[in-house]
Amino acid sequence: MEHLINPHVKEIEISGIRQFYNMVSDIDDVLSFTIGLPDFPTPLHIKDKAINAIQKDCTTYTHNAGLLDLRQEVSKFMYSHYSLKYNPDDEILITVGASQAIDIAFRTILTPGDEVILPGPVYPGYEPLIHLAGGKAVHVDTRSTSFKLTPQLITESLTEKTKCIVLPYPSNPTGVSLTREELEEIADLVRGKNIFILADEIYSELTLDRTHTSIGSIIREQTITINGLSKSHSMTGWRIGFLMAPKAIIKHMIKVHQYNVSCASSVSQMAALEAMRNGEHDPAAMREEYKNRRDYVFNRLAAMNL
Ligand SMILES: Cc1ncc(COP(=O)(O)O)c(C=O)c1O
Repeated sequence: MEHLINPHVKEIEISGIRQFYNMVSDIDDVLSFTIGLPDFPTPLHIKDKAINAIQKDCTTYTHNAGLLDLRQEVSKFMYSHYSLKYNPDDEILITVGASQAIDIAFRTILTPGDEVILPGPVYPGYEPLIHLAGGKAVHVDTRSTSFKLTPQLITESLTEKTKCIVLPYPSNPTGVSLTREELEEIADLVRGKNIFILADEIYSELTLDRTHTSIGSIIREQTITINGLSKSHSMTGWRIGFLMAPKAIIKHMIKVHQYNVSCASSVSQMAALEAMRNGEHDPAAMREEYKNRRDYVFNRLAAMNL
């Protein structure tokens, strides 16, 4: 019966990074630099709140968009950290990780043949989802611009079919981020065109040595912003993401979300609520440790003349 499988599904593959991770995960003494998996436990106060939530029977469906209390906290957080204004009532969805947010976004905006610009090298999670939604990934080689997507590179790749530009900053795998000025130039280029910017900012809280700028604060009407708790609070297994966009876009995204998962896990949402209310300083300790490791690796490589 395999011949009856949807060709789009047949054509995509388990990502190379996942295959490699699966291969090495059972071997002791291997340092795995594969998937973006923080090696810190989820902070204790968050775990305790989740246990408490189970005991208090917070185990039912929630609002499709997620708990209102949580959306309110997300709204406050996005504004205080990144000057992003999203209304908790109708501009924020709590998703099953950033991964589901990306899927919802592509399935909501793409029609067959639409092109999506990706700044390569790029996180491998986008292209298969673009393909499943009938779109086409257009990889832009950013090696000549220090791994930054520039207005010139975008201009060279734009066609009448371009529907979306993915801006994953800080970037996995390059670590590169874009400054406010660089984001403003990109915003100037796409402003008024029928093009979305999908800003995947899942690593924003782990920005080192500078402050993170969200492009949604520059060009709100065309931006879909994605964030979440997987990296910032070491909560990869809890599967909590945030999908944010103007009301006119979210009202369509919530349909895709509803028929896909109904809502994110209620217990994870309670844990997320604790992270947003009382875990503002949790990422700082991890950030400090990542910085030490980065400096160590950099200095060792430099000492080896690499
Ligand atoms: C750039 C980027 N976006 C999204 C994700 C997925 O995040 P989540 O675990 O919240 O689904 C990852 C995970 O590694 C990532 O690196």
